[in-house]
Amino acid sequence: MSEMKRAHNFNAGPAGLPLEVMLQAQAELLDYKGTGMSIIEMSHRSKEFEAMINEAEADMRELLAIPANYKVLFMQGGASLQFSTIPMNFRPAGASADYIVTGAWSKKALQEAQKLGAVHASADMKAANYNGLPASLALDPKAAYLYYCSNETIHGVEFFHTPKAPAGVELICDSSSDFMSRPVDISQYAYFYAGAQKNVGPAGVVIGILREDMLARVPANLPVMLDYKVQAENNSLYNTPPCFSIYMVGLVMKWIKKMGGLAGIEARNTAKSGLIYKTIDSSGGFFKGHAQPEARSRMNVTFRLPTEELEAQFAAEAKKQNMIGLKGHRSVGGLRASIYNAVELSDVEVLTQFMQEFQKKNG
Ligand SMILES: Cc1ncc(COP(=O)(O)O)c(C=O)c1O
Repeated sequence: MSEMKRAHNFNAGPAGLPLEVMLQAQAELLDYKGTGMSIIEMSHRSKEFEAMINEAEADMRELLAIPANYKVLFMQGGASLQFSTIPMNFRPAGASADYIVTGAWSKKALQEAQKLGAVHASADMKAANYNGLPASLALDPKAAYLYYCSNETIHGVEFFHTPKAPAGVELICDSSSDFMSRPVDISQYAYFYAGAQKNVGPAGVVIGILREDMLARVPANLPVMLDYKVQAENNSLYNTPPCFSIYMVGLVMKWIKKMGGLAGIEARNTAKSGLIYKTIDSSGGFFKGHAQPEARSRMNVTFRLPTEELEAQFAAEAKKQNMIGLKGHRSVGGLRASIYNAVELSDVEVLTQFMQEFQKKNG
């Protein structure tokens, strides 16, 4: 076998997974725990599968200290389907819901909710080109919930505080791109969800952490696959779940535990992002960060160069040196280094060294 060449993977999602997790999945692919079958070849009703999904959930509960009155749901449809199911399940007929719009994903969530009923933007950072967090919120005390996205993947804007909802207004968070990248107090949320494909696994599964009393809001006769109550009552096994994705999430949970849990992961992520932002800040303006310093994402570092030509050249030359995924999202341009949990500090060091050399040659 030729020597394996793994990329310095800065993809925004799907993204790199820890090498040891990939190797374990490879080793178990043909024979999961002596069954003579792969995890993707067996019934989701088998005792092996059930033990696996229960363990994945138990490890996630332990890592996030999820309180006992919360359900953990493993669902399909991507985080994008949640944009619709959240208002369907949690916004009673005639009620309005508040959305904090800090980038492309919270905007999409608001737009989807708007198709089905009333919404109100508590803030919209569009005028600032989604480069920061709102200084104040226009909150409706009668809103069914207050929704926000803790990390805007495209703009590279992250919340480091929890927005405060008025008394009686439930808080809902899309944590797709900073899920399990740091500790979080789940008890502040009525619903906290994330697609797996950035920090905790492959695409195909969405994790929803739901306070049980919210199930009382779910209206009767929702389409069965869009009904959180059905998912909760059937422990995510109403129908065939995304078996392989859940299995991979389970392996990543074990890896996070080995890395010192979420506190250990957070320290690692702070060091990685800190190094890139330091390189940006000490470049004398050659590199310009998109996000305001207080909102700088630790997951997606978005930055610009003096010209679009230089940006294209940067991405192309980086690619030649095995650094993949640095081109910014097509909607905003520029560059973006996504440095999720699995990205190593050594990958980031290769990138920052390249940034400095690129500036020397082209600055
Ligand atoms: C913050 C955030 N929310 C939602 C989504 C949509 O996820 P999906 O592609 O799984 O529907 C993404 C995708 O990148 C995202 O970054």
